[in-house]
Amino acid sequence: MRRELAVHVPAPVWPAGYRLAPFAIADLPALHALLALGYSLGGGRVPPFEDWRAALLVDSGFDPALVFVAQDARGAVAAICLCWSSAFIKDLVVHPSVRRLGLGEALLRQAFLAFAARGADAVDLKVEIDNPTGARRLYERAGMKEVA
Ligand SMILES: CC(C)(COP(=O)(O)OP(=O)(O)OC[C@H]1O[C@@H](n2cnc3c(N)ncnc32)[C@H](O)[C@@H]1OP(=O)(O)O)[C@@H](O)C(=O)NCCC(=O)NCCS
Repeated sequence: MRRELAVHVPAPVWPAGYRLAPFAIADLPALHALLALGYSLGGGRVPPFEDWRAALLVDSGFDPALVFVAQDARGAVAAICLCWSSAFIKDLVVHPSVRRLGLGEALLRQAFLAFAARGADAVDLKVEIDNPTGARRLYERAGMKEVA
């Protein structure tokens, strides 16, 4: 699916008690654990930690400024949006205990705005047609459209 960035992107609205946090390499184990948990019912997959970490850090599309992390009030990782510099959203996962609060939409908007600021025309991602957590509805609400 694709979000054309010529169409206005509203500012993210963070649910009360949550904030955007800077990404740190030290967060990688917590981020991997969240991806593994978030995808445990489907929707995506993540390799074992050491394989994932090694591949991530050498990927030419990896940019720490494009890893958007939402933390709760205690500083725990609640959600992650991991993007490649090619204006591609690689992973979007919200902890199962804090879904349906608006974190997914807030992170999506954050990513769209970051790519708009870099001059991208559009942001892409892949989603399974039968994503079990209704991700397609979220993407459509955020202005994404199917592309062939
Ligand atoms: C898909 C996913 C990222 C959505 O995250 P989320 O934080 O729950 O997303 P949002 O809260 O922004 O929106 C989800 C729903 O909650 C609703 N919602 C948002 N804020 C709400 C609030 N304050 N009160 C009640 N409902 C709310 C939204 O309207 C939306 O409803 P819908 O599914 O009926 O359209 C999450 O379910 C997830 O991590 N899934 C597993 C991983 C995955 O498959 N990722 C996508 C890979 S392509």
